[in-house]
Amino acid sequence: MADLPRTMTVIAIRAPGGPEVLTPEERPLPVPAEREILVRVRVAGLNRPDILQRQGSYPPPPGAPDIPGLEMAGEVVAVGPAVTRFRIGDAVTGLVPGGGYAEFCKIHETNALPVPRGFSMIEAAAIPETYFTVWPNLFERARLVAGETVLIHGGASGIGTTAIQIARAFGARVIATAGNAAHCAACLRLGAQSAIDYHTEDFVARVGEITGGHGADVILDMVGGDYVRRNYAAAAEDGRIVQIAVSAGALAETDFHVLMRKRLTHTGSTLRNRSIAFKAALLAEVETKLWPLLARRAVVPVIDTTFPLERAAEAHARLEGPSHIGKIVLTVA
Ligand SMILES: NC(=O)c1ccc[n+]([C@@H]2O[C@H](COP(=O)([O-])OP(=O)(O)OC[C@H]3O[C@@H](n4cnc5c(N)ncnc54)[C@H](OP(=O)(O)O)[C@@H]3O)[C@@H](O)[C@H]2O)c1
Repeated sequence: MADLPRTMTVIAIRAPGGPEVLTPEERPLPVPAEREILVRVRVAGLNRPDILQRQGSYPPPPGAPDIPGLEMAGEVVAVGPAVTRFRIGDAVTGLVPGGGYAEFCKIHETNALPVPRGFSMIEAAAIPETYFTVWPNLFERARLVAGETVLIHGGASGIGTTAIQIARAFGARVIATAGNAAHCAACLRLGAQSAIDYHTEDFVARVGEITGGHGADVILDMVGGDYVRRNYAAAAEDGRIVQIAVSAGALAETDFHVLMRKRLTHTGSTLRNRSIAFKAALLAEVETKLWPLLARRAVVPVIDTTFPLERAAEAHARLEGPSHIGKIVLTVA
């Protein structure tokens, strides 16, 4: 730590509110504990939960920094005394419970992975949050298998662009929903068989038509609200619905007769509040299952835009708007 600065620039949340509350601040450099590494952040990824945190409705879990940022990539510049996986100079990408919007970020060594071969720091920083969310939800909770049909809501989102590619890579047929023609076209380019504009089309009817009345075997939903009832209607018999967000509302009315008649499973999860040990096991599995696909670019993060760290407010405004496709990231000079 001797030749490192004592302080660093971070993007802090001045008060709950709009993008303008994101403010550069000087903070002390984090000191890595036993099994932690300190990373000089080159790029930090944005995710919708960062907006919820900025607005004050998604506080960091106990012990996590108050600085936003759930993923970042950079070089290791210091290691705790018990670190075995990484050395100073290694290029890593990692999943953190907060603290990514900063010049330096510390992370437990088991929650970081080497940057996939041939990947830029921009691409690497855009991997963790969506890949580590999509894998356990689609393949463990919802038990998606080759040959099944998966309905992915929000197909043009960071999560959606990842989910479409991974589901395709593992042999599923993908139907995606998105909010306009450009977003639908992006879903098709990424491998979706069909894309449904949720503003102009009824996804329940369209899924029925596309699947010849079978329905979706798996549904990945980030919308909630009245989508709960509609997802039950769009699901196949023995279908699995996995809830990863509830942007249209956490309270919903539905018809449980449909759930019983079709023998549906409705589950869900959040990643951020899981333990370091859970994330370590998840990262190890994702490294085995997805890093080889990334290394041969069979799946790649879709980058929408990059902004310098100090323009985080503009980056948030774009993430909140209707235009972006895939991931927005912050670069650190
Ligand atoms: N559970 C977890 O562990 C976890 C982890 C990470 C993220 N998430 C959640 O996953 C969601 C996506 O995150 P992100 O960072 O990828 O966000 P994002 O890029 O901002 O995407 C949000 C998406 O929601 C779509 N959407 C909005 N209303 C919709 C509707 N009625 N029907 C279908 N799609 C709709 C939008 O589609 P259009 O732009 O095409 O209109 C947009 O693509 C967020 O809600 C986030 O909180 C959950």
